Amino acid sequence: MPTSEIPTTLERLVYTSRATQPLGTVDLFNILNHARHNNARLGITGHLLYADGVFTQCIEGAPQAIEQLWQSLMKDPRHEVIQVQERSPITQRRFAEWSMAFSSYRYLNAFNMPGFFPLDANGQSEKSVLLSMQP
Ligand SMILES: Cc1cc2nc3c(=O)[nH]c(=O)nc-3n(C[C@H](O)[C@H](O)[C@H](O)COP(=O)(O)O)c2cc1C
Repeated sequence: MPTSEIPTTLERLVYTSRATQPLGTVDLFNILNHARHNNARLGITGHLLYADGVFTQCIEGAPQAIEQLWQSLMKDPRHEVIQVQERSPITQRRFAEWSMAFSSYRYLNAFNMPGFFPLDANGQSEKSVLLSMQP
């Protein structure tokens, strides 16, 4: 069978959670840096939205990689009230080009990190709108 025909399974998990403490630029930069490094190794892509102390994160990748990250996320004391919004098999990634895109308030991007999408007056960015798309 040609490589292009081998079925590859992908999964998407979207959850919301609440930050246990207000997070500043450095805290978010550290989460993102670590996430991007780790996700690239696990073949995970996705998007993190942080607004009003609430996270919405989408992670997409191979089911075993998603499960491994999910177990870590659920143990992370930096957030609580973790609620799954969607977990389903997918055929295409929504954030294929980002090991973790990040949308938040413009002032929280003091380090000018790549893959940052500032929120507009409606609390949305050009990437965060993809989070609430129907599967
Ligand atoms: C809101 C939030 C989002 C996170 N996103 C990721 C992520 O996408 N990838 C990741 O590896 N870690 C992420 N983390 C960190 C993990 O919860 C955990 O600390 C990390 O995976 C442990 O990595 P280690 O096994 O290298 O110590 C996130 C943490 C928080 C609070």
